[in-house]
Order: sequence, then structure tokens, then C-alpha cells
Amino acid sequence: MKEYPHFDVLVIGSGAAGLYAALCLPSSYSVGLITKDKLKTGASKWAQGGIAAAINSDDSPLLHLEDTLKAGAGLCDRAAVEFLVEHGASSIESLVDMGVAFDRHNSKLAMTLEAAHSRPRVLHAADTTGKAIVTTLTEQVLQKPNITVISQALALNLWLNQETGHCQGISLLHQQTISWISSSAVVLATGGGGQVFSQTTNPPVSTGDGVAMAWRSSAIVRDLEFVQFHPTALTKSGAPRFLISEAVRGEGAHLVDREGKRFAFAYHPDGELAPRDIVSRAIFTHLQKTGATNVYLDLRPIPAEKIRYRFPNIIRVCQQYGVDLFNEPIPVAPAAHYWMGGIEVDRMNRTSIPGLYAVGETASTGVHGANRLASNSLLECVVYAAQLSKLEIPSTQFVTEYELINIKEENWSGQTEQIAQMRNDLPMLVWQSAGICRTEEVLKNAISQVQAWHSQLIALPLSKYVSEISPNHQLNFNSAQAELQIRFYTETLNLLDIAYLILSSAVFRTESRGGHYRLDYPQVSSDWQVHTVVKEHSWSTSTLN
Ligand code: FAD
Ligand code: SIN
Repeated sequence: MKEYPHFDVLVIGSGAAGLYAALCLPSSYSVGLITKDKLKTGASKWAQGGIAAAINSDDSPLLHLEDTLKAGAGLCDRAAVEFLVEHGASSIESLVDMGVAFDRHNSKLAMTLEAAHSRPRVLHAADTTGKAIVTTLTEQVLQKPNITVISQALALNLWLNQETGHCQGISLLHQQTISWISSSAVVLATGGGGQVFSQTTNPPVSTGDGVAMAWRSSAIVRDLEFVQFHPTALTKSGAPRFLISEAVRGEGAHLVDREGKRFAFAYHPDGELAPRDIVSRAIFTHLQKTGATNVYLDLRPIPAEKIRYRFPNIIRVCQQYGVDLFNEPIPVAPAAHYWMGGIEVDRMNRTSIPGLYAVGETASTGVHGANRLASNSLLECVVYAAQLSKLEIPSTQFVTEYELINIKEENWSGQTEQIAQMRNDLPMLVWQSAGICRTEEVLKNAISQVQAWHSQLIALPLSKYVSEISPNHQLNFNSAQAELQIRFYTETLNLLDIAYLILSSAVFRTESRGGHYRLDYPQVSSDWQVHTVVKEHSWSTSTLN
């Protein structure tokens, strides 16, 4: 018999939220930082536009608060937003002290404007702000002796104490085994779930694992119908849906149709700098009217020198896919970008399960409401993760002994083909049914299909290794191929779970607000100025805090 490893705290995910959380936890705690790919992989590294904070002399936390509440379309928790904006300046100071090299103008931190901000308050490092932040945080993490990084390791499920309901660790797929790691607290920092949509700016790791795991363990999740569709993702055959940052419009680029007409003003007086949901819907409607597949972003109103200085990565990627943005507009269309909903947490990142915490995009702190203000996400990761410096954990450490079981090499290729088919079809279904415009009938049909796929998936023999394994067993597969197949199975299960949650929440909310637009209920309804709350298979509402 052997004993499982134990950490005081396990942090799952190594984006901005997970890295910053690991750094802020008291250094007297042993911290296991688990990540399913390389340390820096995630949406954070891909962040372009920047991080918002009211630090200029003509700006204030109050103005930042007002802009955030307005973008959130009546669904932000005011106190959560106040906490965010009031800690903006100190969070930036901390990042600068750690070594993040934000762009400067005459030695002062440079700011840009993004949609729905009343002031230029977005700090940036060219158009690779996320990379600059994540690189610095990673360097810091690697220097901390109390943090052990476990990479290429997929968290499968939460481990709850059957008597107390306390979260006491996770099950983990790592180095061809499924085993358990115990801890006094678990922090989920697993990011968003954009991969459930066929058109997304999100990286492949964004499969909604944290929300799916927490929901399966009966944690409260909320506002899952609210998905932000970014208006401008590169739309060229053979190219990924690479984000063309909103900062480009902030610096003066025009959104035009194939006739070269600036059509966004027909939909909102702020034109291309209106809130994202409005610009995305304007593009969607315009495409339907004109029959085109994309619109264009014309950077030529911006001086060439400025483009070179501010957007070197966008220039590079566009060039790679045959677009010379100095001489032609970039073909763009909306894509799923950010998930406002998540695991319900309080100001200390506590979920409804004792011992379980959530930070970053996987959490629902209440700051984004029905629609996130651009560049508030990285700020939320840092401001809320910093709260973990106050984490107190029980001093008890329990020991579970386990038996090692060797699983014989099996031929799983038939199962893998079935999973691959679902993995291919599901995102298209969710894009068509829970994309920019939704209706009850289409959503309900999609739910039936998702439920059918779910039944098929959990009936596969592979399922028992993920869902039914006991903490008294460690499974050893001795095969890299088996490890890949179990990962594929688990991510597909998570995607099916979050598809079910998004679709059902979208049926539940019979109004349109922020990132949730129902063609059959196109108006905002004051009756719906409430959170959508989900526990297991039950949907209800809760008032705003
Ligand atoms: P992520 O950075 O996505 O990290 C999640 C981590 O969890 C990853 O390390 C992943 O590997 C790991 N993980 C997931 N599941 C598991 C599992 N089961 N087991 C182990 N590990 C797991 N926001 C802004 O504020 N400003 C911007 O300029 C901006 N630009 C953006 C540009 C793009 C292209 C995208 C996609 C998003 C952008 N956003 C921006 C949004 C912002 O980047 C994200 O919301 C934020 O980075 C989320 O950080 P996170 O740490 O919560 O998640
Ligand atoms: C962008 O650069 O447009 C993305 C900013 C964000 O998502 O906050």
C-alpha cells in the first residue's frame, strides 16, 4: 500500500489567475500548481489589448465603475465591481514591481482606449500584453520554493470528503496514470470554455473543465448563458480565428463592409466603439442582410508608424495568412471570446463547496454582469487572486492509502472514433444554437442532441476509468496513447456538460441582455435583473448583491 502526495493548496491552471494565485498564497503553504499543458499555455498568454485600470489623472475608479456597470447591462454586483476598480492601481503597481514591462509614453505608463471605456485606461505591452504578464509571473513562480509545478497533468474530478462535503483534492491524469492528490484547499483557475463554439478566439485548452468539474460535484454555478462574442476575429479560410484586438478600433481603425461603408453607426451612435455585444450583433445582422461571410477592419486611418509600434503581432499573423494590413482591410467576423458566467464565488473566492475556491474566467465574482467591459478580465484575475494571500486552511492532513492497478493495453480506437465525431459536431451545434442570436426551439433541439451524445459517451467502456475510480486505487496504463485517449474523453465530457449548461440557461432566461440575445424575447425585462443560478439539474434565480 502507498500514500498519495499531499499539498496544503492545489491550484489548477496556470494562466494569469492560477499563476498569480500561487504567488499570493502564503509562502508557508506547500502549493501544487497543476496544469494540463505547458506552464504558459492558456487564454492569458493570448491576451492582446491589455489590462484596464483607472490610474491616469483624468480618470478615477468611479468612472471605471460606471463604465463596467453600464457594459454589464444591469447584472453586475456593484460591490464586486467596486472591489475590482478600487484595487486596479495597486494591482498594476504589483505587476510593474514584478517586472511586467508595460508600454510607456515619456516614461509614464501609456494607455489606450477600448470600446465602452469613457477614458483611455488600458495598459498594454504592444499587442502581446498577456504574454508579457504571463512570462513575468512564470519567472516568479519558478523561483518560489514552496510551489511545485506539475505540468501536462489533467485534473479529472474533484475529491469530496463523503462525510463533511469538504473538497480534499482531485483525481489527476498524469504520466500515464490516474491517481489522486490530497490537499486542504483546491483553487480552480481553469479559464473559459470557448472551445464549445466552432468559432472562437480561445486556445485549445479552454474546454470549461473547472465549471464542468464543479457542477458535477454540485457546486453552484451561475449566469452561464452570458457569452461574449468578440466582433473581430480574423476570417480567412485556412486561418485560425485569430483575434484582431479592439485596441485597433480604439486607435482609429474603421469597421467597413465590402462596399467600404462604415455600417456600425447604423446600429449604435458609438459606431465601432459601442459595447461588444452590440457591435457583434450589428456585424451578424449586416452579414445576414448582405449575404457576405465577413466584414473588414480597415487600419489605414491609423498612421503606419503607429501600427508598426502598437500591433507588431497582428501585422505578423495577418502577413502569415496573406493579408497586408497596410494596403488592404482585414477580413473579420465575430467569434465566442469570453464566458461571463462561472462558478459562483464570494469576495474571498469561496465557492459553495467548503475548501473549493475559484479565480479568473472560471469564476463568477459578479464583476462582469451580462457583458464584460474590455480588458477587465486580466484585472479581475489579478485583483481577486490576490485575495488568496488571506487564505486560512485547516491544519489537518489525512492519509489515504491506495493500491496500484495495472490496466492492460486495450484497443480503444472504436471508442475514440465516436468521441472524435462528437468533438467535431458539438461546437458547430452550439455555435448555431447558442451563438449570437438564440431562439427557444433551436436551443431545445440542441439540448436533446447534447443529451443523446452525453448518454452515448458515458456508455463507452472508457468512461469507467474517469468517473468510477475509487480513491483507493491508482490506475497505471503504461501507454502514452491511452493517456491521450482518456484526456480526449474527459475534455469531450466537459464540453458536453458545459454545452448543456449554456443551452439550458439560455432557454431559462426569457429576455435579451448583454451577451444573451433571444430573437423570441428581444427586449430587456426588469423581472430578469437577477442571476441565473444552477445547482445540479435545477435552475433558479438570485437577486444581485
Ligand atoms: P487561462 O489563462 O485560460 O488559463 C487556464 C489554465 O488552466 C491553463 O493553464 C490551462 O491549461 C489550465 N487548465 C484548464 N483545465 C485544466 C484541467 N482540467 N487540468 C489542469 N489544467 C487545466 N482579457 C483582458 O482583460 N485583456 C485582453 O487584452 C484580453 N485579450 C484576450 C485575447 C484573446 C485571444 C483571448 C482568448 C482572451 C482575451 N482576454 C483578454 C480574456 C482573458 O485573456 C482571459 O479571460 C483570462 O486570461 C483568463 O485567465 P485565466 O487564468 O482564468 O485562464
Ligand atoms: C482585445 O484585445 O480586443 C481583447 C480585449 C479583451 O478581451 O478584454
